[in-house]
Amino acid sequence: MRVIIVENYDSMSRLAAKFVKEELVRKPDLVLGLATGSTPLGLYKELIRMHKEEGLDFSKVTTFNLDEYVGLPKNHPESYHTFMWENLFKHININPSNIYIPDGTVEDIEAHCVWYEEKIAEKGGIDLQILGIGRDGHIGFNEPGSSLASRTRIKTLARETREDNARFFGGDISKVPKYAITMGIGTIIESKKLILLASGANKRDAIKKTVEGPITAMVPASMIQIHPMAIVIVDQEAASLLEREYETWEG
Ligand code: PGA
Repeated sequence: MRVIIVENYDSMSRLAAKFVKEELVRKPDLVLGLATGSTPLGLYKELIRMHKEEGLDFSKVTTFNLDEYVGLPKNHPESYHTFMWENLFKHININPSNIYIPDGTVEDIEAHCVWYEEKIAEKGGIDLQILGIGRDGHIGFNEPGSSLASRTRIKTLARETREDNARFFGGDISKVPKYAITMGIGTIIESKKLILLASGANKRDAIKKTVEGPITAMVPASMIQIHPMAIVIVDQEAASLLEREYETWEG
């Protein structure tokens, strides 16, 4: 695992964008795994800037999002469909038919999850997966206790996660969906490359356990320790409990 400590959220976002750009230039038809939440917003802003100012081309890119709430219509302001369109897709030249996000409104969720896995395989697998991390160590919506070999499926959200996300639902936890469709840990780990991002002191316990703790289903992100090409970009606050020496980036 390559751990890179940067000063703050802004430098985390810029370094992540630099890695995405390198991959995209090397492989214009990149299959990119995307995440939602506050963490990747700066990365997406920087990619939009690179598209507008430097001509970074997304026309051949395919994307797969990690997860989506069950029961929210696609056009709900807090659906991950809306999030991705507002914060990235509508600002870049991606082909809408190359965008995949789990659909939380389907009747047959199980069949949809199988279809999602098949689509990923059909596109040759995910080249680069972007990940945030929950305070409880989740990746995607794989909450503690998720099978480390899990595939795309429906999961019950942890109370901690629903509390954290209540801020997007007017602070009312009862409005936060209870279930989500998420790529599994097994799905995520099969990506050819992973970049996990974390910023802020509220992520420092999760980062300490992910990077320096044992691999355990109780900290799903710790599974990235077995990945041959995982990069963890953390700001100083998120890295503040790490005890070993790591690479730094001052850019
Ligand atoms: P956040 O969420 O980026 O909003 O902190 C991360 C996550 O829950 O995976």
